[in-house]
Amino acid sequence: MRLLVTGGAGFIGANFVHSTVRDHPEDVVTVVDALTYAGSRESLRGVEDSIELVEGDIADVDVIDPLVAAADAVVHFAAETHVDNALADPRPFLHSNVTGTFAVLEAVRRHGVRLHHVSTDEVYGDLELDGPTRFTEATPYNPSSPYSATKAAADMLVRAWVRSFCVHATISNCSNNFGPYQHIEKFIPRQITNILTGRRPKLYGTGANVRDWIHVDDHNSAVRAILERGEAGRTYLIGADNEQSNLAVLQSLLAIMGRDPDDFDHVTDRSGHDLRYAIDPSTLRDELGWTPARTDFTEALRETVEWYRTHPDWWAPLKDATESSYSKRGQ
Ligand code: NAD
Ligand code: TYD
Repeated sequence: MRLLVTGGAGFIGANFVHSTVRDHPEDVVTVVDALTYAGSRESLRGVEDSIELVEGDIADVDVIDPLVAAADAVVHFAAETHVDNALADPRPFLHSNVTGTFAVLEAVRRHGVRLHHVSTDEVYGDLELDGPTRFTEATPYNPSSPYSATKAAADMLVRAWVRSFCVHATISNCSNNFGPYQHIEKFIPRQITNILTGRRPKLYGTGANVRDWIHVDDHNSAVRAILERGEAGRTYLIGADNEQSNLAVLQSLLAIMGRDPDDFDHVTDRSGHDLRYAIDPSTLRDELGWTPARTDFTEALRETVEWYRTHPDWWAPLKDATESSYSKRGQ
């Protein structure tokens, strides 16, 4: 396959490129990435000679059109992704997530190219903290933040392009990812790098909010399964049955890193903070036979801590600026 990977210099996209080069050397991989603050060439170190990296904005038709025309399939990761940034300034989210996805859709329509659109479980809004309900493909969209609202808008565009223009597209909505190359503004790498730099971890509110954590490699193996065997027009939910409160995740990290369980600060809660996300991944398992491999959460967290400990060159240049924006917001 000739694969065009949008956002392939970001966290999940870069991991997807690394695993594709390793496991599918028959594929020809092109990455298009605007190299925003969240994307970096360093995340593709080691595979740069096996791929082509085009620096460009997916919303720019002159950039995206010829790249899509030269591909058999597009895996669309590119987006603005951080909820706290969306609360501070939603505009870039409209641009990349909505206008950008529109440009990708029009290009795949023009050239008859297969699309897999990568989305999030946050489009479904949140669930009660202790309820039995989990998200399914039938859960109504109910986004809470400017981030999730723009991802929901993008998903709706994909669905409309499938119905109206018979575009050959699939959608996946995945839960919270962790692993190597995740920007240190996000919860897990922020706390790891806080500890590594002598800062105290920062927990929003009480830490009771629940996220359903999945290792990035499991997300990407599901994306690959959908790309190869998914049915056009379908939505697949990706999750690994791993609901954890933020406090529990933080205390696991503190234990792994040899700190006391109360060695952290409670900080100002996020506005509109979603209480709980939880995925029912049974369709993906039953229909496509996909299962997650990284099911030992503590071990996967330990490896992630080790990755950040051994890659300060990748994250240390970002740390002071990231913490300075958080401290301006009381977080
Ligand atoms: P990220 O923020 O780490 O990376 C996003 C990448 O997209 C960056 O390299 C950035 O430069 C690029 N980009 C942004 N706007 C662009 C534009 N206009 N043109 C070209 N490139 C652009 O994000 P991530 O965590 O890797 O997320 C990737 C995708 O997965 C997103 O669509 C996100 O909504 C989805 N997702 C993420 C998670 C998660 O936990 N991180 C969970 C579920 C779904
Ligand atoms: P985040 O990684 O931003 O992902 P999302 O908001 O998309 O789920 O945050 C995960 C959870 O961690 C979320 O409930 C907010 C919380 N959080 C903190 O408690 N402290 C932090 O420093 C950050 C960045 C997030």
